[in-house]
Amino acid sequence: MEATVLQDNFAVQIDGVDLSTLDGDGLAEAKQLWMENKIAIFTGQDLNDDGLLAFTERLGPLFVHVQQNILGDGPDEVMYMSSMDAVAPVAGDLAWHSDQSYTPGPVFATILYGITIPEDGGNTLFADLAATYESLPDDLRAKVDNVKACYSPVKKGRPRRRPMKDDQIDELSDIWHPLVRKHPYLDRKALYLSPNHMTNIGDLSEEDSDALLEELIIHASKFVYSHRWTPGDVIMWDNTQVMHRRDSFPSTQPRFHKRTGFHLPDELRTPVAA
Ligand code: OGA
Ligand code: MN
Repeated sequence: MEATVLQDNFAVQIDGVDLSTLDGDGLAEAKQLWMENKIAIFTGQDLNDDGLLAFTERLGPLFVHVQQNILGDGPDEVMYMSSMDAVAPVAGDLAWHSDQSYTPGPVFATILYGITIPEDGGNTLFADLAATYESLPDDLRAKVDNVKACYSPVKKGRPRRRPMKDDQIDELSDIWHPLVRKHPYLDRKALYLSPNHMTNIGDLSEEDSDALLEELIIHASKFVYSHRWTPGDVIMWDNTQVMHRRDSFPSTQPRFHKRTGFHLPDELRTPVAA
């Protein structure tokens, strides 16, 4: 295993492993590197669904997306994210978010496996929200410490690219999580930002919440890693520590990824205030 950290404490590239068989000490080492650096990029993978699932399951309880109507034909735990999908195509850009922040126990890690990559665009960008928190000036820090925010799957003015059914929306009443949360295993705090889903911060109006969010996004933009995909890349990110977004890509160029994820154990699943 060869590990290279790409930015300050952010994004580690791991070469020379086969995820379908990675286990034991090697797996533990990779998981620790990932937690410390918040994103791990494994290069040169060739995985079928079973191999991808087996790797994911060795790291934690398997995640199934709450939005049942985009799960497709394969196993529910492997999402096919394709721009060529007739029912739920992946298209264009995607705004900053953290996966499933609008659920009571959001997914810990998302794993995205790149198979077909457009020639132009379609990068995935990640912002380090632990570094962002550390860098906040005192006045901003006072606005985020000891505050909760409301996370919703249907934010006004942000229609979902792959719409949710009404009964699914009804099941997810607005969820409040701490805006600054503790890492489940490390002594580290991070902002919990999912701008695409956050409606209110503390007792601020939606308008004032959005203004504060914009300020926080400006700080976060100093700590961004942008990934240009190569087929065979697997990226695993920590949804408790980073937010991510996707750059647009031309609709004429196919893009296909497979996605899995794993949860924290039950007793750590609910985000805890720092
Ligand atoms: C996701 C996601 C980013 C991408 O699947 O949750 O944000 O680059 N994907 O497609
Ligand atoms: Mn996402």
